[in-house]
Amino acid sequence: MEFDHVIRKRKMIRKYLPNKIPDRIVSKMIKNASKAPSAGHTQVQEFIIVTDPATKKKLRQASVNQKSIEEAPVLIVVCSNTSRSVGRYGQRGRDFYSTIDGAFASMLILLTAVNEEIGAGFVGAFEDDKIAKILELPEYVKPIGIITLGYPDESPAKLERIENEQLVHYERW
Ligand SMILES: Cc1cc2nc3c(=O)[nH]c(=O)nc-3n(C[C@H](O)[C@H](O)[C@H](O)COP(=O)(O)O)c2cc1C
Repeated sequence: MEFDHVIRKRKMIRKYLPNKIPDRIVSKMIKNASKAPSAGHTQVQEFIIVTDPATKKKLRQASVNQKSIEEAPVLIVVCSNTSRSVGRYGQRGRDFYSTIDGAFASMLILLTAVNEEIGAGFVGAFEDDKIAKILELPEYVKPIGIITLGYPDESPAKLERIENEQLVHYERW
């Protein structure tokens, strides 16, 4: 798919058909996400693929009961392994770079999904401690986002964007 088209076509999907998506596509998402930049090339991004219905149910409960988490056939939970960055960058590595690094990787998954004609949604509203417990994350691993994936069962309207003229500043705010 043409690059600009992928960008324009992307929108969050929150309703899914139960059909599985091919493993090949999930692998491609991980492969692309691993090309994301990371602060100091610390490569903190790690991924947990979840398909087990019981785990999905628990993750839903830890994420303000968002239905899409339980309904999506596959979840990729994007995490940052801060043990690879905290020694170098301390608190900034743990609190700030880890989130940005995970967000960059997440975006590559979302764009790969568009290119593969798969629906995807990013969920950031969850309780970190509950997610950590469910997925048995070590204390140095931070959950960044839960990406829901599957064939879409909805076609939501594109959300309007603020005009560029209102967003861009020249030389100063
Ligand atoms: C940091 C972050 C957290 C988000 N958390 C959620 C979430 O918990 N649940 C959800 O349905 N969408 C979530 N979203 C998706 C946004 O609501 C969505 O991107 C926004 O409404 C714009 O819609 P679009 O991406 O379809 O254009 C999140 C997006 C970001 C960037």
